[in-house]
This record gives sequence, C-alpha cells and structure tokens, in this order.
Amino acid sequence: MLELLKLLQDGRFHSGEALGAALGVSRSAIWKQLQGLESEFGIDIFKVPGRGYRLASPMILLDSEIIERETAVLGWPVAVLAAIDSTNAEVLRRLDGGRGAPFVVLAERQTAGRGRRGRSWASPFAENLYCSLALRVDGGMRQVEALSLTVGLAVARTLQACGLESAGLKWPNDVLVDGQKIAGVLLELSGDPADVCHVVVGIGVNVNMALDDSGGIDQPWTSMRRCLGAAIDRNLLAGMLLRQLGGYLSRHLQHGFAGLRDEWELLHLWRGRSAALTAGDHVTLGVVLGVDERGAICLNVDGVERAFSGGELSLRLRDDS
Ligand code: BTN
Repeated sequence: MLELLKLLQDGRFHSGEALGAALGVSRSAIWKQLQGLESEFGIDIFKVPGRGYRLASPMILLDSEIIERETAVLGWPVAVLAAIDSTNAEVLRRLDGGRGAPFVVLAERQTAGRGRRGRSWASPFAENLYCSLALRVDGGMRQVEALSLTVGLAVARTLQACGLESAGLKWPNDVLVDGQKIAGVLLELSGDPADVCHVVVGIGVNVNMALDDSGGIDQPWTSMRRCLGAAIDRNLLAGMLLRQLGGYLSRHLQHGFAGLRDEWELLHLWRGRSAALTAGDHVTLGVVLGVDERGAICLNVDGVERAFSGGELSLRLRDDS
C-alpha cells in the first residue's frame, strides 16, 4: 500500500489504469488498496469518474533511498515500514532472527509505540519520526552507560540545527521546548550482556503532528511544526538526526559519557530547580545539581549531594520551583 501511496503523494489525479500499470496489478486490486488506505490509515482520497484518484492533500512519505543517501557516510541500511506495532519491537525481532547490526527501521505509523516506564507513544500516520537503530555492543556494559543521555543530546542538537534554538534536555533523555515535550528516547537491550549483546536506540520526534492527531497525550507536548510554523521534510530531518547520532555515538564510544557531560549540561533545563524524584512509591525531594560522569542525576537533598540512576526513575518539577 505504501507503494501506491507514493504514486499518489503528489496530490494530482492518477487513473486506476496508470496506477495498476505502474504497480503491475489490476485496477480492482488498486481499488482494494485505496480502500485499505482510507480504512487503515484514515487517508482521504478523492475518486472522480473519468479523472481517477487523488489525495485530498499531498504528503511527503519517508523514503529509505533518500535517507540512505543523506546518511551515506554512516553506511547504515535503512528500512521504512508503512505500519508496525513498534519500531523498537521490530528491530528486536530482526536481531532475534539473526540480522546483523547496525541497521535502522523507521515506520510511518506505530500501533503500539512504546515510551519509557511502560507508557505509550502517540504515533499517527506520516506525521512524525519513529526511528530505531540496532547497534552491536562490543565493549561490555560500560559502553551503554549513560548512552540514552548521549542520544538525547544528539536529538536536541538536531532540533537546534533546525531552528529550535531553545530545545533542551530534561534528565534522563527527554527533549523539551518551552517546557513541552517534543522528542523522547527509549533504549532496549537484546541478548546476553556477558556475551553478544545489542542495544536498540529508539527515538520519537513530534515533527508535523497537530493537536487533533495526537490522540490524547497525557503530558504537555509540542511538535516542530507547531514551534516553527511550517511543515518539516521528514526525510531530510531523518538524515540530519542519524548523522548527528552517528557523530555523538562515536564520541560516546571513544570517551564515554564523561566526554559529553559538559555539553549535556549546557542544554540541561532543570539545573537549580526544585524537583521530586519518584522511584516506585518512594519520592525524594531536592534541588537539581546536574548529572555526573555516569549519567546519574545529582540532587541536593537536605544539604547532602546524592546521585540517582535507573530507567524507572521519574523526575518532576515541584510547584514552588
Ligand atoms: C519516551 O517515553 O520519552 C520515549 C519515547 C520513545 C518513542 C520511540 S518512537 C520509535 C521507537 N519505537 C518505540 O516503540 N518507541 C521508540
């Protein structure tokens, strides 16, 4: 169906005959696929007798060839899927099936996009970036220490380079603009840390999402389009993001997070703020001091500096902050 949508994405009329010839299928097969595009992805298609079919509004779909060209220096194979439960889950399945890393999977839509701490990630069709990179971990678990902070930094730098100068970081890896979440990072491990192991770097960026596409996100959020006032070319953005990621990952590999901590702190939004750190039922109140060389968040708790780390922790601002 994605191939058919690519032919239609220019928003012009195409006859059923021409579409069938281009895809090597019958006109009735085209008709069925058009119905699938409407029912499965909610895409409006005008059907005008004698003229053919056209999208109600043109769209730019993700294109693996463009993204691979934009990231040729990295040499990462890129796959674009129309819809999948979660790009992280898909990468984990491909790794389980013996696929060698590195490789990248993007999707136009996720039906069960995963966020941190068991939350879901809103993933409407053809609006945003849902991207997962598989990496082989050769240097032991030290290599993945604070890796998610490094990925957040690469994402924030990409958004800044697109004109969102105020994009900054909330520990551990949320990217915010004006206090609203614009991107998130979810790392998942696959395999045996004592043997061959892979890490899946999952990144979600709210790119062109509008209020009515968001499906009730339960926290303040924004998108690049809402901030910049113009639609963003997601293929160029994916290229920029992966290039930045490649650069920051190789710095992380060489020097660990210690070599990136100062830069992370430059973009840190909550230093000096009063915050509540939640771990399960336990809440610690303190003032945010910064992050340490292992990526832990340091708080001043009743005059004592304490460092906290772990994927299940959640940091919130206190009302008096
Ligand atoms: C967060 O909660 O902030 C992390 C969100 C991560 C979302 C991305 S979208 C691509 C990848 N696939 C997923 O299912 N999740 C990540």
